Amino acid sequence: MLNMDDEAIIKAYKRYARNYDLIFGKIFEHGRRQILKKMNCRSGDHVLEVGIGTGITLPFYSDHVNVTGIDISPDMLQVAKKYVNGNKAAKKSLFLMDAQQMSFADNSFDKVAAMYVVSVVPDPEALVAEMKRVCKPGGDIFILNHFSNHNLLPKMVETVMLPFRNLIGFSPRLSMDWLIKNMDIPVVEVDSVNLFGYWTLIHAKNGDH
Ligand SMILES: C[S@@+](CC[C@H](N)C(=O)[O-])C[C@H]1O[C@@H](n2cnc3c(N)ncnc32)[C@H](O)[C@@H]1O
Repeated sequence: MLNMDDEAIIKAYKRYARNYDLIFGKIFEHGRRQILKKMNCRSGDHVLEVGIGTGITLPFYSDHVNVTGIDISPDMLQVAKKYVNGNKAAKKSLFLMDAQQMSFADNSFDKVAAMYVVSVVPDPEALVAEMKRVCKPGGDIFILNHFSNHNLLPKMVETVMLPFRNLIGFSPRLSMDWLIKNMDIPVVEVDSVNLFGYWTLIHAKNGDH
């Protein structure tokens, strides 16, 4: 059963779905491209993108990489379907699924990415725990997001936006330090990406589990 927050998220992304790429395509593209570069996918790799949304990254992958995308919003996935029709369908698949409770077996993927998703889900710890579980030991985990900013102006903007979390479809306040501590996996690299370096890309290596 979905809790209220998940229902609000589904509603918010129903509103966004048709125009998502137009609004959030270019502005967030640098971060997405950086992840793809760092993934350095080899032929036959199995990649999981949680919260894949409209499938905006799918054209970035080579045809020889197996990409699985999941999302909780049927409306966002509906837009993504255009990328899995046709000849490339075999290597790209989409599922309607809650990333906080995935139905994949342990150790299923070589690389697992969450692009602009950890501050959307009600339970970021459950999301990260699931990402770790389905990622092979030694596999790569990528988290790209905006995290709480301690500078005065961004902090004020975040405070003003906070009560509108359910309406805008993400929480403007999530601490990276808290997340990294709770992730309990070795962080390889942390980079600033996108406009003003206001977003952060975390690359971690999955441990044994
Ligand atoms: C800000 S969008 C990011 C979409 C895409 N990753 C991108 O790079 O633009 C957040 C996405 O996460 C999805 N999402 C939110 N909660 C989720 C959950 N519990 N499980 C799976 N997807 C979820 C939303 O439906 C939405 O498509």
